Amino acid sequence: MPSPLQDPKLEALLDRLHAQSAAQEEAANAYFQKRVEEGSLTDMTKFDDEALAFFADKMVALEKDKSEYCYLLCRALRAQRVVEIGTSFGVSTLYLAAALRDNGAQAGAVTATEMEPEKAKAARANFEEAGLADYIDLREGDLRETLKEIDGPIDFVLVDIWNVARPALELVAPHLRTGAIVATDNTSSFGDAYKDYFEYVNDPKNDLRTMTVPFDGGFELTVRV
Ligand SMILES: C[S@@+](CC[C@H](N)C(=O)[O-])C[C@H]1O[C@@H](n2cnc3c(N)ncnc32)[C@H](O)[C@@H]1O
Repeated sequence: MPSPLQDPKLEALLDRLHAQSAAQEEAANAYFQKRVEEGSLTDMTKFDDEALAFFADKMVALEKDKSEYCYLLCRALRAQRVVEIGTSFGVSTLYLAAALRDNGAQAGAVTATEMEPEKAKAARANFEEAGLADYIDLREGDLRETLKEIDGPIDFVLVDIWNVARPALELVAPHLRTGAIVATDNTSSFGDAYKDYFEYVNDPKNDLRTMTVPFDGGFELTVRV
Protein backbone atom coordinates (compact mmCIF):
# COMPACT_ATOMS: atom_id res chain seq x y z
CA MET A 1 0.00 0.00 0.00
CA PRO A 2 1.64 3.29 -1.03
CA SER A 3 2.03 5.86 1.74
CA PRO A 4 -0.09 9.02 1.45
CA LEU A 5 3.06 10.99 2.28
CA GLN A 6 4.63 10.33 -1.14
CA ASP A 7 8.04 11.32 0.23
CA PRO A 8 10.41 8.32 0.00
CA LYS A 9 13.22 9.92 2.05
CA LEU A 10 10.88 10.80 4.92
CA GLU A 11 9.13 7.43 4.70
CA ALA A 12 12.49 5.66 5.07
CA LEU A 13 13.27 7.65 8.23
CA LEU A 14 9.78 6.98 9.61
CA ASP A 15 10.03 3.24 8.89
CA ARG A 16 13.27 3.18 10.90
CA LEU A 17 11.69 5.09 13.81
CA HIS A 18 8.52 2.96 13.83
CA ALA A 19 10.66 -0.19 13.93
CA GLN A 20 12.68 1.24 16.84
CA SER A 21 9.48 2.03 18.74
CA ALA A 22 7.92 -1.39 18.03
CA ALA A 23 11.04 -3.08 19.41
CA GLN A 24 10.51 -1.25 22.73
CA GLU A 25 6.79 -1.97 22.89
CA GLU A 26 7.08 -5.51 24.23
CA ALA A 27 9.14 -4.32 27.19
CA ALA A 28 6.64 -1.53 27.87
CA ASN A 29 3.64 -3.89 27.78
CA ALA A 30 5.40 -6.33 30.09
CA TYR A 31 6.23 -3.47 32.47
CA PHE A 32 2.61 -2.30 32.65
CA GLN A 33 1.30 -5.83 33.10
CA LYS A 34 3.72 -6.50 35.97
CA ARG A 35 2.89 -3.24 37.75
CA VAL A 36 -0.86 -3.79 37.37
CA GLU A 37 -0.67 -7.45 38.46
CA GLU A 38 1.34 -6.64 41.57
CA GLY A 39 -1.09 -3.80 42.31
CA SER A 40 1.62 -1.17 42.48
CA LEU A 41 0.19 0.92 39.62
CA THR A 42 -3.57 1.23 39.73
CA ASP A 43 -4.16 4.78 38.56
CA MET A 44 -2.87 5.28 35.01
CA THR A 45 -3.51 8.99 35.28
CA LYS A 46 -0.86 9.28 37.99
CA PHE A 47 2.46 7.74 37.04
CA ASP A 48 4.79 7.31 40.02
CA ASP A 49 8.53 8.04 39.87
CA GLU A 50 9.35 4.46 38.87
CA ALA A 51 6.93 4.51 35.93
CA LEU A 52 8.16 7.94 34.85
CA ALA A 53 11.76 6.67 34.96
CA PHE A 54 10.82 3.58 32.91
CA PHE A 55 9.17 5.66 30.19
CA ALA A 56 11.76 8.45 30.21
CA ASP A 57 13.67 6.88 27.28
CA LYS A 58 10.81 5.00 25.56
CA MET A 59 9.47 6.26 22.23
CA VAL A 60 5.85 5.03 22.50
CA ALA A 61 5.32 6.35 18.97
CA LEU A 62 1.88 6.65 17.41
CA GLU A 63 1.31 3.71 15.07
CA LYS A 64 1.90 4.19 11.35
CA ASP A 65 -1.75 3.79 10.30
CA LYS A 66 -2.98 6.36 12.83
CA SER A 67 -0.14 8.72 11.88
CA GLU A 68 -0.99 8.48 8.19
CA TYR A 69 -4.64 9.11 9.06
CA CYS A 70 -3.57 12.31 10.89
CA TYR A 71 -1.55 13.34 7.83
CA LEU A 72 -4.61 12.97 5.62
CA LEU A 73 -6.93 14.73 8.08
CA CYS A 74 -4.53 17.69 8.14
CA ARG A 75 -4.45 17.73 4.34
CA ALA A 76 -8.28 17.54 4.16
CA LEU A 77 -8.59 20.43 6.63
CA ARG A 78 -5.93 22.41 4.74
CA ALA A 79 -4.46 22.83 8.21
CA GLN A 80 -2.14 25.79 8.76
CA ARG A 81 -1.65 25.44 12.54
CA VAL A 82 -1.67 22.30 14.64
CA VAL A 83 -0.80 21.36 18.22
CA GLU A 84 0.66 18.05 19.33
CA ILE A 85 0.10 16.93 22.91
CA GLY A 86 3.02 14.59 23.63
CA THR A 87 5.92 14.50 21.16
CA SER A 88 8.47 12.01 22.52
CA PHE A 89 11.03 11.33 19.71
CA GLY A 90 8.81 13.21 17.26
CA VAL A 91 7.45 10.39 15.09
CA SER A 92 3.85 11.65 14.79
CA THR A 93 5.22 15.21 14.69
CA LEU A 94 6.97 14.41 11.41
CA TYR A 95 3.67 13.37 9.81
CA LEU A 96 2.00 16.56 11.02
CA ALA A 97 4.90 18.72 9.84
CA ALA A 98 4.91 17.00 6.42
CA ALA A 99 1.17 17.69 6.07
CA LEU A 100 1.62 21.34 6.94
CA ARG A 101 4.59 21.69 4.61
CA ASP A 102 2.48 20.10 1.84
CA ASN A 103 -0.38 22.51 2.69
CA GLY A 104 1.98 25.46 2.19
CA ALA A 105 1.96 26.46 5.88
CA GLN A 106 4.45 28.83 7.48
CA ALA A 107 7.46 28.10 9.67
CA GLY A 108 6.60 26.97 13.21
CA ALA A 109 3.16 25.75 12.17
CA VAL A 110 3.32 22.66 14.40
CA THR A 111 3.43 23.36 18.13
CA ALA A 112 4.92 20.25 19.74
CA THR A 113 5.31 19.47 23.46
CA GLU A 114 7.76 17.28 25.40
CA MET A 115 8.86 17.38 29.03
CA GLU A 116 11.77 14.90 28.90
CA PRO A 117 14.93 16.76 27.81
CA GLU A 118 16.58 13.69 26.26
CA LYS A 119 13.48 12.90 24.21
CA ALA A 120 13.26 16.52 23.07
CA LYS A 121 16.91 16.32 21.97
CA ALA A 122 16.24 13.12 19.99
CA ALA A 123 13.12 14.69 18.46
CA ARG A 124 15.07 17.74 17.32
CA ALA A 125 17.65 15.49 15.65
CA ASN A 126 14.84 13.66 13.81
CA PHE A 127 13.27 16.96 12.72
CA GLU A 128 16.63 18.06 11.28
CA GLU A 129 17.22 14.74 9.53
CA ALA A 130 13.77 14.96 7.93
CA GLY A 131 14.37 18.54 6.79
CA LEU A 132 11.20 19.58 8.66
CA ALA A 133 12.68 21.44 11.66
CA ASP A 134 11.52 24.84 10.39
CA TYR A 135 7.88 23.76 10.59
CA ILE A 136 8.07 22.67 14.25
CA ASP A 137 8.04 24.78 17.41
CA LEU A 138 9.01 22.23 20.07
CA ARG A 139 8.15 23.50 23.52
CA GLU A 140 10.16 21.74 26.20
CA GLY A 141 8.76 21.35 29.71
CA ASP A 142 5.40 20.56 31.25
CA LEU A 143 2.76 21.39 28.66
CA ARG A 144 0.50 22.80 31.38
CA GLU A 145 2.99 25.67 31.39
CA THR A 146 4.33 25.64 27.82
CA LEU A 147 0.87 25.79 26.21
CA LYS A 148 -0.33 28.80 28.17
CA GLU A 149 0.31 30.86 25.05
CA ILE A 150 -1.00 29.52 21.76
CA ASP A 151 -1.35 31.30 18.43
CA GLY A 152 -4.67 30.38 16.88
CA PRO A 153 -6.76 29.53 15.07
CA ILE A 154 -5.87 25.86 15.47
CA ASP A 155 -7.05 23.44 12.77
CA PHE A 156 -5.95 20.12 14.24
CA VAL A 157 -4.77 18.70 17.56
CA LEU A 158 -3.19 15.31 18.24
CA VAL A 159 -3.56 14.17 21.84
CA ASP A 160 -1.07 11.34 22.35
CA ILE A 161 -0.95 11.36 26.13
CA TRP A 162 -3.42 10.35 28.81
CA ASN A 163 -2.26 11.72 32.15
CA VAL A 164 -2.67 15.40 31.22
CA ALA A 165 -5.11 15.10 28.31
CA ARG A 166 -7.83 17.17 29.97
CA PRO A 167 -5.67 20.13 31.04
CA ALA A 168 -4.10 20.08 27.58
CA LEU A 169 -7.48 20.21 25.85
CA GLU A 170 -8.66 22.98 28.17
CA LEU A 171 -5.65 25.08 27.11
CA VAL A 172 -6.08 24.43 23.38
CA ALA A 173 -9.91 24.45 23.10
CA PRO A 174 -10.35 28.25 23.16
CA HIS A 175 -8.13 28.45 20.04
CA LEU A 176 -9.92 25.78 17.95
CA ARG A 177 -11.59 27.07 14.81
CA THR A 178 -15.02 25.80 13.86
CA GLY A 179 -14.49 22.47 12.10
CA ALA A 180 -11.17 21.78 13.84
CA ILE A 181 -10.42 18.16 14.68
CA VAL A 182 -8.95 16.80 17.91
CA ALA A 183 -7.62 13.24 17.46
CA THR A 184 -6.91 11.35 20.67
CA ASP A 185 -5.12 8.02 20.93
CA ASN A 186 -6.07 4.91 22.91
CA THR A 187 -9.36 6.24 24.24
CA SER A 188 -10.80 2.70 24.39
CA SER A 189 -7.83 0.86 25.88
CA PHE A 190 -7.10 3.65 28.38
CA GLY A 191 -10.78 4.50 28.93
CA ASP A 192 -10.54 5.00 32.71
CA ALA A 193 -7.60 7.36 32.35
CA TYR A 194 -9.64 9.52 29.96
CA LYS A 195 -12.67 9.84 32.26
CA ASP A 196 -12.21 13.54 33.09
CA TYR A 197 -11.20 14.20 29.45
CA PHE A 198 -14.54 12.87 28.22
CA GLU A 199 -16.43 14.84 30.83
CA TYR A 200 -15.03 17.93 29.11
CA VAL A 201 -15.57 16.62 25.55
CA ASN A 202 -19.18 15.61 26.26
CA ASP A 203 -20.13 18.81 28.08
CA PRO A 204 -22.51 20.54 25.58
CA LYS A 205 -21.20 23.98 26.47
CA ASN A 206 -17.82 23.08 24.94
CA ASP A 207 -19.29 22.70 21.42
CA LEU A 208 -17.58 19.42 20.61
CA ARG A 209 -18.98 16.32 18.86
CA THR A 210 -17.12 13.06 19.08
CA MET A 211 -16.89 9.43 17.98
CA THR A 212 -14.38 6.62 18.44
CA VAL A 213 -12.75 5.44 15.23
CA PRO A 214 -11.99 1.71 15.54
CA PHE A 215 -8.22 1.78 15.21
CA ASP A 216 -6.36 -0.47 17.65
CA GLY A 217 -7.00 0.84 21.19
CA GLY A 218 -9.60 3.33 19.91
CA PHE A 219 -8.82 6.63 18.24
CA GLU A 220 -11.15 9.47 19.16
CA LEU A 221 -12.19 11.96 16.51
CA THR A 222 -13.65 15.10 18.06
CA VAL A 223 -14.88 18.06 16.03
CA ARG A 224 -15.40 21.66 17.19
CA VAL A 225 -18.87 22.61 15.94
C1 LIG B 1 2.86 8.60 23.91
S1 LIG B 1 4.24 9.66 23.98
C2 LIG B 1 4.10 10.61 22.50
C3 LIG B 1 4.52 9.87 21.26
C4 LIG B 1 4.59 10.76 20.02
N1 LIG B 1 3.34 11.41 19.75
C5 LIG B 1 5.04 9.95 18.82
O1 LIG B 1 4.21 9.52 18.01
O2 LIG B 1 6.25 9.73 18.70
C6 LIG B 1 3.76 10.84 25.19
C7 LIG B 1 4.88 11.81 25.55
O3 LIG B 1 4.35 12.84 26.36
C8 LIG B 1 5.35 13.27 27.28
N2 LIG B 1 4.69 13.92 28.41
C9 LIG B 1 4.04 13.34 29.45
N3 LIG B 1 3.54 14.27 30.29
C10 LIG B 1 3.87 15.47 29.78
C11 LIG B 1 3.65 16.82 30.18
N4 LIG B 1 2.97 17.09 31.31
N5 LIG B 1 4.14 17.82 29.42
C12 LIG B 1 4.83 17.54 28.27
N6 LIG B 1 5.08 16.28 27.83
C13 LIG B 1 4.61 15.25 28.56
C14 LIG B 1 6.06 11.98 27.64
O4 LIG B 1 7.38 12.25 28.10
C15 LIG B 1 6.01 11.19 26.34
O5 LIG B 1 7.22 11.31 25.64
